[in-house]
Amino acid sequence: MDERADAVVLFGVTGDLAAKKLIPALYELTRRGRLDLPVFGVARSAWDHEHLVRTVRKAVVEAVDVVDEAAFDALAARMTMISGGYDDARTYARLSEALEHTARPLFYLAIPPAVFTDVVGGLKDSGLARRGRVIVEKPFGHDLASAQALAVTLRGAFDPERTFRIDHYLGKEAVEGIAALRFGNRLLEPIWSREHIDNVQITLAEQFGTQGRAGFYDRSGAVRDVLQNHVLQVAALLAMESPAKADELHALRRMRPLTPGSTVFGQYAGYRDEPGVAAGSTTETFVASTLRIDTRRWAGVPFHLRAGKHLAETATEVVVTLRPSAYANATPNLLRLRLGRNDGIGLMLNVKEPGRASRTRPLPLDVDFGAALGRRQEAYERLIDDALDGRQDRFASEETIREEWRIVAPVLDGHQPILPYERGTWGPETPGTLPAGGWHAVGAAGR
Ligand code: BG6
Repeated sequence: MDERADAVVLFGVTGDLAAKKLIPALYELTRRGRLDLPVFGVARSAWDHEHLVRTVRKAVVEAVDVVDEAAFDALAARMTMISGGYDDARTYARLSEALEHTARPLFYLAIPPAVFTDVVGGLKDSGLARRGRVIVEKPFGHDLASAQALAVTLRGAFDPERTFRIDHYLGKEAVEGIAALRFGNRLLEPIWSREHIDNVQITLAEQFGTQGRAGFYDRSGAVRDVLQNHVLQVAALLAMESPAKADELHALRRMRPLTPGSTVFGQYAGYRDEPGVAAGSTTETFVASTLRIDTRRWAGVPFHLRAGKHLAETATEVVVTLRPSAYANATPNLLRLRLGRNDGIGLMLNVKEPGRASRTRPLPLDVDFGAALGRRQEAYERLIDDALDGRQDRFASEETIREEWRIVAPVLDGHQPILPYERGTWGPETPGTLPAGGWHAVGAAGR
């Protein structure tokens, strides 16, 4: 393992991701004594130090209940603003000067795709890339070809071992916990296959809309924004043969491309009126699709996937439906993995109904991880900490991303009809489409 990084450079410090996730993560790392390094914020806006600190303060206040003032002061004192154009050599000259006494800076590229090549080129030409590590954020291109072009650009500047591709779902404790649950419980391991599992449903539902990112979202849509990455990543963790990273990739390799015939696109009412959305936009804010996995374990078992904005609940949840048992009126067991808010696990078991008849009634066994395990670190906190250490195992690889684009390719910019849906519902009403028995209730409604 590489030595720990000795500086953090945050490109896009003025942006949305920095405010919502990255600055709070840097603050938490500082608070926990995991970050006592200089932090440079780079952006085009001409901010001075005070403006930077004010913005950092605002981001922290919004993210935590009580600000630890000593931690905040420590972080603020180590931060420096570097303003300049991403295509301007002077920006990189100033950065080089600022990083003069560092050996292993970590560059976080929280920047729009349009300036990605400029920044990678600037870091390369200034020589900074040679000794640095880089964290890159999605979108990794907008299809397979552009993702490959991007990979070539990155490889031309940074050593692949020092390139960290974030899929923040891989940094969530509950998502990483899928492997522990599957392989750490003798109870689950033998039933985890087509012999006992009828179907798997994965939902990534959000009650809110584009949250001021409509301009970006309109060029992306639900498939590119979350299905191609987060949802497929969860499917791979559910499907893999062993907890080894190579098996996660293998599971992705065995996933068949999605088909337009088993995919539904929707758009919530009023989306086209939002600032930043193109007139007559056909961007999908909802997608549902059925994934097939060609392994012996999963042959014939549909993985139903759905994701969308302005839905009835905010919930990231897997529901595994087991095959029915022959006893009395037993209903199929359901195993729920709640991966987002209120993360935890639930299992519907049939118990005998009181009375003379041999009838059963399903009852839930439920564990709330927050209540049982206490505070867990946020995904970004864990991932930045990993990258500072040079640890790759919780990051996506170039191959992972390539496979994910291959899988979604047939439904990208396809000629999928876009069905309207009302906000606060579960998406368009599409009689006769996936899944056969309907979607299981998730979130609060599923408990
Ligand atoms: C991001 C998407 O990658 O993931 C957002 O760009 C989405 O649109 C978010 O809201 C969901 O992440 P989480 O951690 O809130 O479930």
